[in-house]
Amino acid sequence: TQKFRFTYRAYRVHSTNNMSLVQKELQEAVEEVLPTLKKDGVSVFYVSRTSNTNGVDTLLDKVDGVSAEATPESWRSEVTFATPAVYIYTSGTTGLPKAATINHHRLWYGTGLALASGIKAHDIVYTTMPLYHSAALMIGLHGCIVTGATLALRSKFSASQFWDDCRKYNATAIQYIGELLRYLCNTPAKPNDRDHKVKIALGNGLRGDVWKEFIKRFGDIHVYEFYASTEGNIGFLNYPRKIGAVGRANYLQRKVIRYELIKYDVEKDEPVRDTNGYCIKVPKGEVGLLVCKITQLTPFNGYAGGKSQTEKKKLKDVFEKGDLYFNSGDLLMIDHDDFVYFHDRVGDTFRWKGENVATTEVADIVGLVDFVQEVNVYGVPVPGHEGRIGMASIKIKENHEFNGKKLFQHISEYLPSYARPRFLRIQDTIEITGTFKHRKVTLMEEGFNPTVIKDALYFMDDTAKTYVPMTEDIYNAISDKTIKL
Ligand SMILES: *[C@@H]1O[C@H](CO)[C@@H](O)[C@H](O)[C@H]1NC(C)=O
Repeated sequence: TQKFRFTYRAYRVHSTNNMSLVQKELQEAVEEVLPTLKKDGVSVFYVSRTSNTNGVDTLLDKVDGVSAEATPESWRSEVTFATPAVYIYTSGTTGLPKAATINHHRLWYGTGLALASGIKAHDIVYTTMPLYHSAALMIGLHGCIVTGATLALRSKFSASQFWDDCRKYNATAIQYIGELLRYLCNTPAKPNDRDHKVKIALGNGLRGDVWKEFIKRFGDIHVYEFYASTEGNIGFLNYPRKIGAVGRANYLQRKVIRYELIKYDVEKDEPVRDTNGYCIKVPKGEVGLLVCKITQLTPFNGYAGGKSQTEKKKLKDVFEKGDLYFNSGDLLMIDHDDFVYFHDRVGDTFRWKGENVATTEVADIVGLVDFVQEVNVYGVPVPGHEGRIGMASIKIKENHEFNGKKLFQHISEYLPSYARPRFLRIQDTIEITGTFKHRKVTLMEEGFNPTVIKDALYFMDDTAKTYVPMTEDIYNAISDKTIKL
């Protein structure tokens, strides 16, 4: 429930009066932390007309009675660009969620993405993502306030209801993240797939294969893929709509914002430094860690109450003594035409046989096999081996069956041997975070031991040229190295 416990500091009536607005569905979670909130002087309201919790007030009845007059400017006279506007919990794919401090400057920056993708007052933006997530809150909700567009909300994403909702609300723009468009492409084709008014899709994490399939099936929708993080100080927008890219580096941005891609040592999990102790820029066409100088124009506001976590995202003495950069934790590549491509998260990339493996790239390849509905790729340690070996958790499409031979052939054809998932785990559901990102930590810990894991497990057998069911014998043979990996 951690990620739901967010406080929307809606406005400050007095500097000490903090409000917390809560969905009624989260009653249990709120009651658990209510004493602490009260102690901190936070007033708590349900976004509802009724409350059966002592000490929690109701909001909607008060909204009904609110004046239509504009709020006096004096109420917000102390608010500046630097004032915290909201705290947003980052998704926590690699650890516990952290509360990023979003000030008004950042909010405006987020709304800039809505403007840049051409959203206008007559547009109707359909968002199925939770409002505790930065894309929905900053680009969706605040983007609509700034552009004058209308926002259509759904509390929970539903692939089967998605287009019906778009038709019902006359949606002209949609927001997506991560796997959302893949889920839409995975639904059975319908004759009315192109019967809608959606012209713009704005989001991030869309892979090239899904992008192509999406526009082929649902019509000529302008997809604006962007790169940004909740707390980061750098972003890109793929305004030329080049399939597969997350943005385009341009001269003007480069002049104002000092970002670089630097050499990264995946094994040591740190940037490579030269003999003088400085970081090394990678040439165009090569993958590097994105870092961006922390300046007044590109500040990093850090995490609320998390000094050490904030420090961890800062990189010092990058190109000269005393300089300070934001470490995005993302590996990107900029090609010779200045298109920016997302490669992987630093913690997601693993190393096997001295080679770096980007989990997202492997997932793209595995995802092309006809019976694969969804795939989550990660690296697992093998006793007595350096690095981590590839493993994939797969969800099988309805009315399809797992075919080890077919998958083996496909993977051998498209992936170099070091990048191939040697172990497979078949799961009914692939666990995702509240923002549709694959959760990997538990899977990595559980590894490939058949006595521990109850899901069906497979092993890539090079001799039999297929994936065979994983047995204790195979497991032991790997442990005592009679099977060589
Ligand atoms: C959607 O558009 C149609 C036709 O223009 C209109 O009749 C309908 O009322 C609109 N629906 C909404 C929810 O605005």
